[in-house]
Amino acid sequence: MTYIAPPVHPSGVTAPALPASSVPKHVAVVMDGNGRWANRRGLPRIEGHRAGEATLMDVVAGALELGVTELSAYAFSTENWKRSPAEVRFIMGFSRQVLRNQRDDLNAWGVRVRWVGRVPRMWKSVLKELHAAEQLTQNNTKLTLNMCINYGGRAELVDATTAIAQDAASGRLKPSSITERTLARYMYSPHMQDVDLFIRTGGEQRTSNFLMWQSAYAELFFSDLAWPDFDRRELWRACEVYAHRERRFGGAVDAVAANQGEVPSTGDPYSEDESAL
Ligand code: IPE
Ligand code: IPE
Ligand code: MG
Repeated sequence: MTYIAPPVHPSGVTAPALPASSVPKHVAVVMDGNGRWANRRGLPRIEGHRAGEATLMDVVAGALELGVTELSAYAFSTENWKRSPAEVRFIMGFSRQVLRNQRDDLNAWGVRVRWVGRVPRMWKSVLKELHAAEQLTQNNTKLTLNMCINYGGRAELVDATTAIAQDAASGRLKPSSITERTLARYMYSPHMQDVDLFIRTGGEQRTSNFLMWQSAYAELFFSDLAWPDFDRRELWRACEVYAHRERRFGGAVDAVAANQGEVPSTGDPYSEDESAL
C-alpha cells in the first residue's frame, strides 16, 4: 500500500530522532481548552471548536511523522451532554463535517479511522459519517485514529460489565475464567492497545473519564496550551519527555542489591514462609 506523506509543518521543522523503542505506540489526547481559547478572543465558545479541526489534522500528521501507530482523540464525552443544547448541537454537527472534510486526506495518509463510544444518545447522522470513514479507511495500516465521541470511561466499564453479565447468565462465559484479558475484549474497541502517553491540553490536570481502563499505566503529560494553539511540535515535545520517563509497571530494580547474588529457591519464591521473617 502506498500512502501520501502528510504535509510538513509550515515552519519546516521535522520530527525528533527518537529511537523507535522510545516512541509511544498509543497516544491519547484530551483536546481541551477550546471554549476558553475562543472566549479570551471575545468569540463564542463554538469558534474554539471550529479552530480545533486544524490542530487535529496537524497532530495526526505529527504522529505519522514520528511513528506513533495509534492516536485516540477525545472529542465529546458522555458528560458533555450537560452543556447547552446549542453547544452540543454544534459539536455533533461539526464532528460530522470534520469527518466528511478530512476522510480523504486521512485515507491518503494511511490512517484508519475508528469510532469509540456509546450508542445511546449518539446522533445517527454522526454515526453514519463515522461508519463511512471507517469503511473507507479500513485497510489502512500506518496509524489508527480512534475518534472518541460520546465516550466515557465509566460508561465503557458499565457497558462491558452488562455484556459480561449477559454472557455469563446465558452460559457463554464462565465467571471463574474472567481475567483482565476478558474485560479488555468487552471494551468498545477490543483491539485498542494500552495507552502509553496521555496528553491533556488546556491547562487542567485531570483525566475527565477518558480511557480509564486503557490508561492504567499511561504516562501523563499536561500542556497549558489550549487545543487550538497546540500542534505537532508540542506533541513531539511531549513524546521527548515520554522517552525520558522510566516506566516500571509496578516492578523495581535494586541497583545496589543486584550484584549481591540471590539464594536459589525451590517452588514459588514469593510464597509466605516463616524463615523469611
Ligand atoms: C474541549 O474544549 C472540547 C470539548 C469538550 C468538546 P472545551 O469546550 O471543554 O473548552 P474549555 O475547556 O471550556 O475551554
Ligand atoms: C474533557 O473535557 C472532554 C473532552 C475534551 C471531549 P471537559 O472540558 O469536558 O472536562 P472537564 O469538565 O473540564 O473535566
Ligand atoms: Mg473543557
